[in-house]
Amino acid sequence: MATGQPSWKWCSKCACLFFGGNAVCAAAGGVHDHLGSGTYTVSYKSDAPGQNQWKWCKKCQVLSFTGDGVGPCHAGGQHDVSGSGDYHLVQDSEGQTPWNWCNKCQGLAWQPGVCQAGGAHAFNGSGRYSICINGNPRAQANIGQDQWRWCKACQLLCYDGINSCAAGGAHISAGSGNYELTMGAPASGSTAQPGWKWCTKCYGLAYSKSASDGVCPRGGTHNHDGSADYALPSSGAPADGEQDKWAWCNQCQQLWYSGNGAGRCCQSPTGGHSKDGSGNYSLKMIPN
Ligand SMILES: *[C@@H]1O[C@H](CO)[C@@H](O)[C@H](O)[C@H]1NC(C)=O
Ligand SMILES: *[C@@H]1O[C@H](CO)[C@@H](O)[C@H](O)[C@H]1NC(C)=O
Repeated sequence: MATGQPSWKWCSKCACLFFGGNAVCAAAGGVHDHLGSGTYTVSYKSDAPGQNQWKWCKKCQVLSFTGDGVGPCHAGGQHDVSGSGDYHLVQDSEGQTPWNWCNKCQGLAWQPGVCQAGGAHAFNGSGRYSICINGNPRAQANIGQDQWRWCKACQLLCYDGINSCAAGGAHISAGSGNYELTMGAPASGSTAQPGWKWCTKCYGLAYSKSASDGVCPRGGTHNHDGSADYALPSSGAPADGEQDKWAWCNQCQQLWYSGNGAGRCCQSPTGGHSKDGSGNYSLKMIPN
């Protein structure tokens, strides 16, 4: 039976559709919502200034303090910080202040949003941390790792860098709608086209039935291991609540929006995607 999956987003840099969230958020009951966030930079170099023992949780993507033990994780159990760098945070007047430590979930939060330990974050006992935002201050940006983003639903700082954009860095989904794709075999009589799969490296959606899997912006070709099979409506006028002009790119195999210029294709020396030979796909849009 076909089922719908939300949280697919359009990237304003490469024009491709990618899966915009992978980590559970305590507030939304869904995934982190980074809409409107800047890009923060946090350093993990051993000689960086500030307080260390801040670590990334691979389950919820949140940055949390581990000097007093590991906090509870909304994804289940405690945060899993194995494999994390040892991040340093400074408390000075540069960068954006004040970021706060929550003494319940141990996470770094901006406002008292929904806490992974239940209720709201509690900041008593916290320092006032200052984080480099959008490259400022440069002294911190130069020694740090970017692609950290604020989640407006839970207020925590979460790593968003697992997505990769052909135009460089992470995808930017600010301004995107929330698209819902259909997973599983299309209903009988449906003209939807199956064979679309998600790439576990770049998080983009690509057509899997071509001779080549297509070049992936993360290197090599797309990897569809473990992906569901998605079916996309590809003919006729869009139904109510659907947006047309989505196209297949015959160079990178990815789905991209053709109503706004050609975006950036990772396999085109001149830059843009191609819609030669493509159908005219319509995607269902749902509230954000
Ligand atoms: C924060 O305040 C609560 C209630 O007053 C107290 O029980 C707790 O120990 C305080 N935590 C810290 C880290 O100061
Ligand atoms: C897709 O359909 C829309 C109208 O429904 C049309 O404006 C557009 O040109 C079509 N694109 C292609 C590639 O056929």
